[in-house]
Amino acid sequence: MKIAIVGTGYVGLVSGTCFAEMGTEVFCVDVNEKKIADLNQGILPIYEPGLEEMVNRNQKAGRLHFVTDLASCLNEVEVVFSAVGTPPDEDGSADLKYVLEVAHTVGRYMNKYLTVVTKSTVPVGTAKKVRQAIQEELDKRGSDLTFDVASNPEFLKEGAAVKDFLSPDRIVVGVESERSKELMTRLYRPFLLNNFRVIFMDVPSAEMTKYAANAMLATRISFMNDIANLCEIVGADVNMVRKGIGTDVRIGHRFLYPGCGYGGSCFPKDVKALVKTAADHGYPMRILQAVEEVNEQQKSILFRKVDKYFKGDLKGKRVAIWGLAFKPETDDMREAPSLVVIQKLLEAGCEVSAYDPVAMDESRRRIGNTIRYAKDIYDAVMDADVLLLITEWKEFRMPSWQVVKKLMANPLVIDGRNIYDPAEMAEYGFDYHCIGR
Ligand code: UDX
Repeated sequence: MKIAIVGTGYVGLVSGTCFAEMGTEVFCVDVNEKKIADLNQGILPIYEPGLEEMVNRNQKAGRLHFVTDLASCLNEVEVVFSAVGTPPDEDGSADLKYVLEVAHTVGRYMNKYLTVVTKSTVPVGTAKKVRQAIQEELDKRGSDLTFDVASNPEFLKEGAAVKDFLSPDRIVVGVESERSKELMTRLYRPFLLNNFRVIFMDVPSAEMTKYAANAMLATRISFMNDIANLCEIVGADVNMVRKGIGTDVRIGHRFLYPGCGYGGSCFPKDVKALVKTAADHGYPMRILQAVEEVNEQQKSILFRKVDKYFKGDLKGKRVAIWGLAFKPETDDMREAPSLVVIQKLLEAGCEVSAYDPVAMDESRRRIGNTIRYAKDIYDAVMDADVLLLITEWKEFRMPSWQVVKKLMANPLVIDGRNIYDPAEMAEYGFDYHCIGR
């Protein structure tokens, strides 16, 4: 089977490569010529564990192609996936410009039946617009070709994208016809040979499922952050509370970790978009509004803790930061809490030195040399008055605290992810603060 995937961002590149890994011939299409030229040289636009090797292997095997021209491969493929970006508009709604551009191109150049699948996260009702855009182009050409639209939201997590795609919890597909249902079944069967968990449904439900899943996960995080903050006030330990509630199978253990706020390309954007969609229909999503508000507050919690410790006297204070990416195993800094903390520290007159295993180039692109980029974790804490742990990378979990303490000017550690043991930190002589404990 041959397919095309438009957009070589996280979702497009990972899906395309994983489909190729399972034997499908894949054309990954992107209008960005530099990106495609790089990919053809084996240079990837993102860091994702295991991806580079898989791209190279499938490229060599002739199953994975990187091209700029969608029109030229439309004759060869049976399915076109659209995995282009849906950046938030100023008002928070998803911008469908790129999604509809793909649809128009398909309509203009298709020469046989196609199933056009939207993989990007798009508001309910988008499939209809995609259908209209394709039909409009076919009508202009006087063509009576038929096609189907489908919705196949992607649930992969950055940092574990390849693993998630290869062994998904479930696959959600919204279809309008038996024909595209059969195509999608063929395409996904290799991923779920022993346990076929493709949930077929109508298209609007599939579109909604993605938003509801991300909104629910974001809600869990904001809820736990609120509980953690209250734990601090009343003298409870959120870690114990988390374990206590997680053992209820209805609640479950995962995604209950308080921290310094959620970031990334999905949760913030999708929560805003869902609030906006609901508002457009005259329905206020009160819970999600609060989820967003709590998260905004939580992103500056580390700054507030520093500010409180130094009683507002932050001018000239040296702050070390471990972790810039919005979460471990990625170089992505979109909506990262580190950006909020750094901005506030700089505004207050602090000097910041930071270390991240992979996101430092990304940080330079975003905030330039407003901070010092350290060689390693120890270089970062040199002469520091406080160390902030923002991203829980594995290499931050067991530092030599003796060395850290010697290097710091003041033994103060504020842990935004609760990865250290308060008793142990006290033994090493640190003044240790964390979230909700
Ligand atoms: C998320 C969804 O998990 C995924 O299904 C969807 O396809 C895209 O959005 P991703 O953005 O890659 O994936 O990251 P995820 O691992 O879900 O983490 C999101 C944010 O939540 C991170 O900032 C993370 O630090 C934070 N988080 C996560 C917490 O603060 N606490 C938790 O318990 C879990």
